[in-house]
Amino acid sequence: MKLSSIFGLFTDLRFAIQVTTIPALKVIFREPSLLLHPRELSRLFMAKLWERFGYFVDTNCRPSKEALITPNAHGVVLDLGAGHGHTVNYLDHSRVSKYIALEPNALMHEHIRKTANTAGYTEVAGSFAILSCGAEDIPTIIRETGRHGVDTIVSVLTLCSVPDPALTIHNLVEEILRPGGNFLFYEHVRSPLKDVIWWQNFWTPIWSTFFDGCVLGRDTVKYISDAGQWSLKDAVGKADEDPENLFWHQAGKYVKAADEEPQSVLI
Ligand SMILES: C[S@@+](CC[C@H](N)C(=O)[O-])C[C@H]1O[C@@H](n2cnc3c(N)ncnc32)[C@H](O)[C@@H]1O
Repeated sequence: MKLSSIFGLFTDLRFAIQVTTIPALKVIFREPSLLLHPRELSRLFMAKLWERFGYFVDTNCRPSKEALITPNAHGVVLDLGAGHGHTVNYLDHSRVSKYIALEPNALMHEHIRKTANTAGYTEVAGSFAILSCGAEDIPTIIRETGRHGVDTIVSVLTLCSVPDPALTIHNLVEEILRPGGNFLFYEHVRSPLKDVIWWQNFWTPIWSTFFDGCVLGRDTVKYISDAGQWSLKDAVGKADEDPENLFWHQAGKYVKAADEEPQSVLI
């Protein structure tokens, strides 16, 4: 494996430390009790980080998101780990009746509200809601959506951070997504190359400390694939991605089988 691939993530790591340290220290100085709450501290770092990274990451993934989300999101859309709500900008308003942004980090909520309102989705009109739980908190999600009340689930660079991803994805598909609904994802996942997987596992403890628990080499596509009965499975890589990239991306559309539908596997 090339040295540039092995150590490629250090540019991002250095930038992350640079942009988060001073603003986070200022907040900790005002609120020293945060030091006793590592989860809150990690969310503070992630919020500061996303203020600097969010726009660039969105720009970088735009072609994949336009191809995946715009034509396939419809009805009630649940956006897992909404961040600053960038997903809402890819929704076709004539096909999406409600945008539900699930984001456990409350420091992001103001950004989400602003982005959704600008895109024409508002709480007053009932076309927008924020859920401040994690994707694993199925009872809270059901209270907002009802059982099988969501037509589309979108996950962009979030399933790398959820606890127990296999179980979380299974429950979301089983309990939240309506039969015939779409599960759309754009995620960095486990590489198909053994030596790259080794380095993904090696760097994860350091990387996840700065990036809110993000695991580099999760087998997310397999977890989604195994999560339920699908009538369509369609996953593709990112155009021109270096096979040695530690952040190996897959974009996919999986359609939940309606009860009596036969299963067909495209990819
Ligand atoms: C890398 S950011 C991606 C944000 C957004 N999806 C985007 O692409 O711009 C990951 C997001 O997942 C959120 N997150 C972390 N743990 C989560 C969980 N258990 N359930 C749902 N979201 C979570 C983080 O707060 C963060 O906003």
